[in-house]
Amino acid sequence: MNQIIINEEKCVGCSLCVDDCPNSCLRMEKGKAKFTKPVCIECGHCCAICPQGAIRMSEYPCEEEPVVPMTVLDSHTLLSALRSRRTIRRFTSQPVEEEKVRKILEAGRYSPTGGNFQGVSFTILGSRQAEAEAICVDIFRNGDKLGAGPAAFLKQIDVRITDNFFFKGAPLVLAVSGADEVNPALASSYMEIMAESLGLGVLYSGFFCECARISEGLRELLELPRGHKVVTCMVIGYPSVKYRRIVPRKALKAKTL
Ligand SMILES: Cc1cc2nc3c(=O)[nH]c(=O)nc-3n(C[C@H](O)[C@H](O)[C@H](O)COP(=O)(O)O)c2cc1C
Repeated sequence: MNQIIINEEKCVGCSLCVDDCPNSCLRMEKGKAKFTKPVCIECGHCCAICPQGAIRMSEYPCEEEPVVPMTVLDSHTLLSALRSRRTIRRFTSQPVEEEKVRKILEAGRYSPTGGNFQGVSFTILGSRQAEAEAICVDIFRNGDKLGAGPAAFLKQIDVRITDNFFFKGAPLVLAVSGADEVNPALASSYMEIMAESLGLGVLYSGFFCECARISEGLRELLELPRGHKVVTCMVIGYPSVKYRRIVPRKALKAKTL
């Protein structure tokens, strides 16, 4: 089990870590911080707040990188970029560079998770992408295993299920899974913004998630951790389309009680 290790020589007794711990796992004893409670969510706030660098977590590597506050991002530019984001369904065949893939995954790794559970898994389809898409195409062409919602929607849009209906020829497909839905969804949103900032486009394939729900074969192919379900499937690549204006949206529904 992870331990919070406090270097007594470095600790100057400022109590910042004690005051900031969300679960009161630390307290002051004889002018030094002490880790007293084993029920710790391993959020790392104590390490992050210590001005002396006196705290580390036994099961986690130390992050030596300097903190960069989000305030470095200009909020006006950020909002304009968020409003300009579009789902991308047409991609070039240009592969996504390893470095960019790493940055996307790192953005997902640092998304918040309830209770700091960090139970989100990221599966790059890689060498199994074509096989996975073929399974999905088969399910959709067949149709009878689909849930009522997707089946009705497909009928309504009356679309042809081409061989690349799911991944649109994109070079990178990432299934994000977890035991719950909220944490993988949050991670996906972080990753989408990172991907966009790298000049990439993203399509969330809810259709793929539906196939993963239905098909045990597909779940086996994905080698999901036990108890996980696919919450999002992110289809990623360089866009071969350019959108020139921000789309209309319904009026904001928000209220203050
Ligand atoms: C959870 C989720 C699942 C989606 N699944 C699909 C899908 O399977 N196929 C598809 O073409 N678009 C899919 N989309 C894209 C939506 O259709 C798209 O977000 C919506 O039309 C609004 O367009 P915009 O993202 O460009 O603003 C999905 C979007 C989300 C958020």
